[in-house]
Amino acid sequence: MGRVDGKTALVTGAAHGIGRTAARMLAEEGAAVALTDVDADAGAEAAADIRADGGEATFYEHDVTAEDDWRDVVTDVHAAMGGPTVLVNNAGIYQIAPLDEMSVEDWRTLMDINVTGVFLGMKHCTPLMEEAGTGSVINVSSVAGLIGLAGHACYGASKGAVRTMTKDAAIELAEAGVRVNSIHPAYIDTQMADYGADMQGATKEELDAMHPIGHMGEPEDVGYAILYLASDESSFTTGAELVMDGGLTAQ
Ligand SMILES: NC(=O)c1ccc[n+]([C@@H]2O[C@H](COP(=O)([O-])OP(=O)(O)OC[C@H]3O[C@@H](n4cnc5c(N)ncnc54)[C@H](O)[C@@H]3O)[C@@H](O)[C@H]2O)c1
Repeated sequence: MGRVDGKTALVTGAAHGIGRTAARMLAEEGAAVALTDVDADAGAEAAADIRADGGEATFYEHDVTAEDDWRDVVTDVHAAMGGPTVLVNNAGIYQIAPLDEMSVEDWRTLMDINVTGVFLGMKHCTPLMEEAGTGSVINVSSVAGLIGLAGHACYGASKGAVRTMTKDAAIELAEAGVRVNSIHPAYIDTQMADYGADMQGATKEELDAMHPIGHMGEPEDVGYAILYLASDESSFTTGAELVMDGGLTAQ
């Protein structure tokens, strides 16, 4: 008996990193998983890996900033594996720079993916959850949505928006049986952490040392939080912000 048996999970940004790992873990625990991403080759490979291990997974090419893509993906997933009762709004980009070096174009691109993408996901998936009388939305924010960090005004604004829109949606949808929570990782060992190290002229060891626990996280550390929030184990939890940061924000 898996922890998410019988659920259909849509995971955005599932070709790499946290999304790819979360998709695998959800499938291992019994969910039918729709993986979506702009990177079609890596996304198809991620879904094939899950199927090779006996899980149920299909890849859909999908740009989270495009409302028509959301309409198509949700319609196709509904027809193929049932309406999603779990949505992991994970797709995101990370750009850091001093305020006077961040262009308006970069600001808009980041906001479009990190904020508009999450809004559109909730807009197009939660009506089906309301119809089903059950659902769990997991919005991937960051510790940068909780605390201030130099160079993070744009990224932090996007993740702060995800944090508050999660609470708004949680209140709006509570009576319908749809839960909405945000998760807040610190550095997790993906290509995003490599970029963070490069941009800050830091070594991986220096990034590790930012976390009181002594090292950055692994994608599985976030995957377990997603699994918990996707499952009925968290049925009394909505509007919450779950931190997995090795103690970074406890300081
Ligand atoms: N890795 C970290 O240190 C860290 C820390 C805190 C929060 N996060 C958040 O976790 C999430 C996943 O990050 P990750 O580390 O796995 O990054 P990643 O770069 O490994 O993966 C991000 C995925 O999103 C996809 N993507 C980018 N733009 C897209 C778009 N417009 N539409 C659909 N897919 C798109 C990429 O192709 C990629 O597969 C992001 O929201 C990120 O902000 C990451």
